[in-house]
Amino acid sequence: MMAVTAVVSEADLQRFADLVRSRSGLEFSGPRRVDLERAIGRALVEWRLPMPDALYTHLTEGAAAPAALEAFIASLTVPETYFFRNQPQFEALEQHILPDLIARRRDQRRLRIWSAGCASGEEPYSLAILLRRLLPDLTSWDVTILATDLNRSLLEKGQRGFYTAWSFRETPAEVQAQYFTARNGLFELAPQVRSQVTFAYLNLADDCYPSASTNTQDMDLILFRNVLIYFGEEMARRVIERLYEALVPGGWLLVGHAEPSIALFSRFITRAFPNAIVYQKPEQEQSVALQPEVLASQPEAPRARSRRPEPRVSARPVSLAAASRGTPSRPISGGPTRSSASATPSSPVPAAPSDDLAARYQAVRQLADQAQLELARRSVEALVKQAPLFAPAYYLQGLILQELGDFEGALVALRRCVYVDAGFVMGHFALANLYARAGQAERGRRHREQVARLLAGAPVSALVPEGDGMTVGDLLRAVGTAA
Ligand SMILES: C[S@@+](CC[C@H](N)C(=O)[O-])C[C@H]1O[C@@H](n2cnc3c(N)ncnc32)[C@H](O)[C@@H]1O
Repeated sequence: MMAVTAVVSEADLQRFADLVRSRSGLEFSGPRRVDLERAIGRALVEWRLPMPDALYTHLTEGAAAPAALEAFIASLTVPETYFFRNQPQFEALEQHILPDLIARRRDQRRLRIWSAGCASGEEPYSLAILLRRLLPDLTSWDVTILATDLNRSLLEKGQRGFYTAWSFRETPAEVQAQYFTARNGLFELAPQVRSQVTFAYLNLADDCYPSASTNTQDMDLILFRNVLIYFGEEMARRVIERLYEALVPGGWLLVGHAEPSIALFSRFITRAFPNAIVYQKPEQEQSVALQPEVLASQPEAPRARSRRPEPRVSARPVSLAAASRGTPSRPISGGPTRSSASATPSSPVPAAPSDDLAARYQAVRQLADQAQLELARRSVEALVKQAPLFAPAYYLQGLILQELGDFEGALVALRRCVYVDAGFVMGHFALANLYARAGQAERGRRHREQVARLLAGAPVSALVPEGDGMTVGDLLRAVGTAA
């Protein structure tokens, strides 16, 4: 093997990193730089090329370049996967998500599922097995399980359906025994399960989805797990946007448990199951009627707004103490309520928002939902200046800054949020997540405990203010203190 470190300059690495990012979304900055360097070294040897320059030309010029670039990118992918990976997510699928979909589709008897970034097929086949178990009358259903990846050799492996013991590290023994046959040191998947899954090449960086031609439209469920972590921020946003469009209203999206910022999924409703956060596309799209001009202080009539579908998140600086005192909990349809005086007595009393403030808050929220993050950042800054005791604005600021990758700024905003309203549960929850991500486990734990304290005694079915449809029970499960 050639001593590549001596040959590949920083400028070369940057050029290759840019090329790979633009064609696949895969990011090779920081510690992953060395993987790129090694792949360049391997490619130089394989194609007998003298210098990175020649390799770059080989990958970008001439008729053979697209195939060569595809192979080069495939050599950079992480194929790590196994059957029933992430037990809490599979429990959520088995106990909630698939039963929900089956019940909703019982009349049409049609289900459409997509494993995007399926690697060698363990993930879509796990779903196929789960469905066989949940749907005894499977043959009378029209079920699509589409499995796509940009690594063709992994797709071929998936189609063959032979696996080593390593793929079964989290598979219940009886499932392995029922659906696989040992053959020459490998395990062969039963043909009837194999036939449930359709494999296809699809590069998520391309704009070929959702579409009928790639069969990626009208999906009920998309598994997009452990792919996003390798993408840069801009690509991540684009892909999530497309996957959102690929889902039917009410459709579900599962991402890996270590995926980035939940703010990336702000168009979705966040659902919490035991140790698993899952995203659901709202049944009804929020109409985007407010334009940025609303920020220029033009009060909007709340009556007109109340005819629109319910916003998924609305500013409601009401402490959960209200819920624990038995105040009926309901999604809010017209922006912030005036009942903020019901905050926990120990917390500073948040300012009661005016209609104008409510309209401004919603306008910023919508900018963020539309991924106009820079404008949203500036607008929320103006909002917190105007209403420095309005906790939801700091919360929103925290989410926006987090989305922009400014984690320190997000921390400051979220700390202000819980300072202004110590009973603002989602503020504590966001802080817990942020600290956990930053490796500050102790601080994360303290905010999780605070969430649990604030929710103690509240009805489990009560909706959490600012919780995107999360109930008290959901949140307690998410912080790991549910009974
Ligand atoms: C770590 S595996 C995840 C496999 C499976 N989803 C799981 O969670 O077990 C990541 C997969 O994403 C695929 N991938 C990466 N970038 C992709 C892209 N732009 N389009 C399609 N697939 C991609 C890789 O080829 C790899 O197979």
